[in-house]
Amino acid sequence: MAAPIPPGSPVAVVGAGTMGAGIAQVAAAAGHPVFLFDSVDGAVDKALDDLRLRMESSVARGRRSADEAASILELVVGCGWLAECATAALVIEAIVEDLDVKREVLAEIEEHTDPETIIATNTSSLSVTAIASGLAKPQRFVGMHFFNPAPVMPLVEIVSGAATSEVYAASAYATAAEWGKQPVRCASTPGFIVNRVARPFYGEGLRLLDEGAADEVTIDAVMTGSGGFRMGPFALMDLVGLDVNLAVSKSVFAQSFHDSRFAPHTRQQSLVDAGRLGRKTGRGFYDYGPSAQADDASTLPEHVGPAEVEAHGDLGWAAPLLDRLIDGGVRVDRVPAGGPGHIIFDGVHLVPTNGTTATELAATHTLGTGEIAVFDLVHDWDTANRIAVAVADQAAPDTLGKVAGLFQAAGFAVSRLDDSPGLVVMRTVAQLAAVATDAVAVGVATAEDIDTAMRLGTNYPSGPLEWADRIGVRQTVTVLDNMHGSFGEDRYRVPGLMRRRSLTGRHLSEGENDG
Ligand code: NAI
Repeated sequence: MAAPIPPGSPVAVVGAGTMGAGIAQVAAAAGHPVFLFDSVDGAVDKALDDLRLRMESSVARGRRSADEAASILELVVGCGWLAECATAALVIEAIVEDLDVKREVLAEIEEHTDPETIIATNTSSLSVTAIASGLAKPQRFVGMHFFNPAPVMPLVEIVSGAATSEVYAASAYATAAEWGKQPVRCASTPGFIVNRVARPFYGEGLRLLDEGAADEVTIDAVMTGSGGFRMGPFALMDLVGLDVNLAVSKSVFAQSFHDSRFAPHTRQQSLVDAGRLGRKTGRGFYDYGPSAQADDASTLPEHVGPAEVEAHGDLGWAAPLLDRLIDGGVRVDRVPAGGPGHIIFDGVHLVPTNGTTATELAATHTLGTGEIAVFDLVHDWDTANRIAVAVADQAAPDTLGKVAGLFQAAGFAVSRLDDSPGLVVMRTVAQLAAVATDAVAVGVATAEDIDTAMRLGTNYPSGPLEWADRIGVRQTVTVLDNMHGSFGEDRYRVPGLMRRRSLTGRHLSEGENDG
């Protein structure tokens, strides 16, 4: 493994804005003298003032000792001219996100540094390969994509452009690890790992909204209460800023030559056009004004649950539901059976979603009844407190109440969705896994690094590939196949690699849930 830059060697950070100031703090906390440069008068002074305030506050809150804070403050010094960065072992550029400006500044940095100095960019959306093309020695140029706020977020994507030499990328990786970060490696592709793989998290939510499957509050509540995500897509877009989110979506879509998996949504554009950018403007998908009233997620009223149910066949990822039913006082009779597992009670057939709507299942009569309901994927059956369900159009009017009563007996709040393929969590996770699989297939990153990046960069409760393995890879393929059939869109195509093998190393034949 390549060595990190030497302990105590100088680091230069060019651009003293949000990211540059944070990265300077991280490098100083690891014991490096840091030169901080900015082309705008007063920008470095402001960054140093802010750093002082952050240090004082972290000492006051007991997060670090006064000595540590003093040493960080002593190590970060402003410099007025790029040439002062000449002794740096690593230069990290964090200036404005503009290809031409970056090329120009980096050429100047190259001129003033030793040929062995690692030069890194913190770009979040530009191609590392393209930025490097103006350099005399692009081999030593690498992406070090920190996340905001840099001192807090553990993830750093180490991005290799077409010309980056392994030795420099490996050294940047080792340096980030030495600084207490969790680095992952990836190739310079649109969105790198996190901004690429995360697109369906927003995209599927937006399409569900458009299809009238549920409102924003309910989709968000299902994603948190059932999917285990910290925030749902709409609350998160409001936090990030609709304009920022749309810009990333457009950039990944354009750079991937319009791969439909990444297609931005007209709703994003119209909210941006209306100036509804999210929290920062007081209104996005939600209203944050002083008189705003929080809407409740749509939740079915209490119904009486069944005394007993029959569980037919293998329920796969949904099997732990039976334990929750038993804990809730429902008797469960397990009936061995082939074919997809399902639960029968009071004439209702309840099916874990496989990407087909309840109405389609009823129409094909595979279960011999019209009283069919489907339910959504759950991340953690021990802690989930909400579930999304849908009933077939053909079902009798009291079917929904019966289904609600069953899940309520198991301690779930129940949200009825329009009968949409794959409901909310399964649809999103299957698409995240598809995009992640495509990324592995074309060598963007390893499955392990993708899962790590998505857990640490976006706080997903599990990496999408590990999650797909838990669902069962074949089951995930079935879900995508069914959504593909239902929507008839290339967006839901099954990645060939996913049909061939599990991506986290488990062979399909070893899986319990892969039937
Ligand atoms: P910012 O606007 O807060 O800071 C940029 C700084 O660069 C400003 O102080 C500006 O005066 C300075 N600057 C502009 N042109 C310069 C030049 N020619 N020479 C020297 N300094 C110059 O921007 P922010 O958010 O810190 O972003 C910086 C970079 O980090 C961008 O490439 C961005 O894409 C990337 N990034 C941003 C993240 C974020 O959440 N803000 C997250 C990860 C990466």
